Amino acid sequence: MKLVTGLFCLAGLMVVAGMGMLKQETFGVGPAAVPAARNSSAEARVESVEDSMHEFMEYVFQPTYRRLSQQLKTTPTDNQGWKAIKSDSLILAESCNLLIGRQPEDDAQDWCRHAVSARSAGGELYRAAKTKDFAASGAAYRRMLEHCNACHRQFEDGKHILEQ
Ligand code: HEC
Repeated sequence: MKLVTGLFCLAGLMVVAGMGMLKQETFGVGPAAVPAARNSSAEARVESVEDSMHEFMEYVFQPTYRRLSQQLKTTPTDNQGWKAIKSDSLILAESCNLLIGRQPEDDAQDWCRHAVSARSAGGELYRAAKTKDFAASGAAYRRMLEHCNACHRQFEDGKHILEQ
């Protein structure tokens, strides 16, 4: 059921984006970034491996965020440093897509809005890191955290407010 509503939400977002009603920066990437389903068989469905939101945040989001927070303290001096930032920002941005399949019963629209905004800022961070722009990376990182925290404020009563 959660998956069905998640897919429905994605489809809805694509339609809205297609109609040009949402600004580019809200999405970060254009509607063409979501590929059309080519194989609709049961095995080809996106399914969560871990149903618990707590475990999902703790094992996918938390360690990634902690590494990024360290990596963005000083300008990387070699390609390895930039690779680490690109890797963790892409993991977080793509993981925000998976939040869309984990909507709560109430205020699902707000949930998706936070997830999409965090994904968008995470994508900006990834792209800034690709061009090795440290200032832009830091700015996008802080924007991303604002969106992570906006969801935590609304859905977690202000717990898990992440510092830089
Ligand atoms: C759409 C909502 C939403 C977004 C967006 C979101 N989170 Fe969360 N996050 C949650 C919820 C809900 C919890 C609490 C899970 C629980 O303990 O049940 C949580 C908890 C956490 C925790 C605490 C985990 C723990 O073990 O105590 C961390 C760290 C975290 N999120 C990081 C992030 C980061 C980093 C981002 C942004 C890249 C992010 N979250 C974006 C909903 C969200």
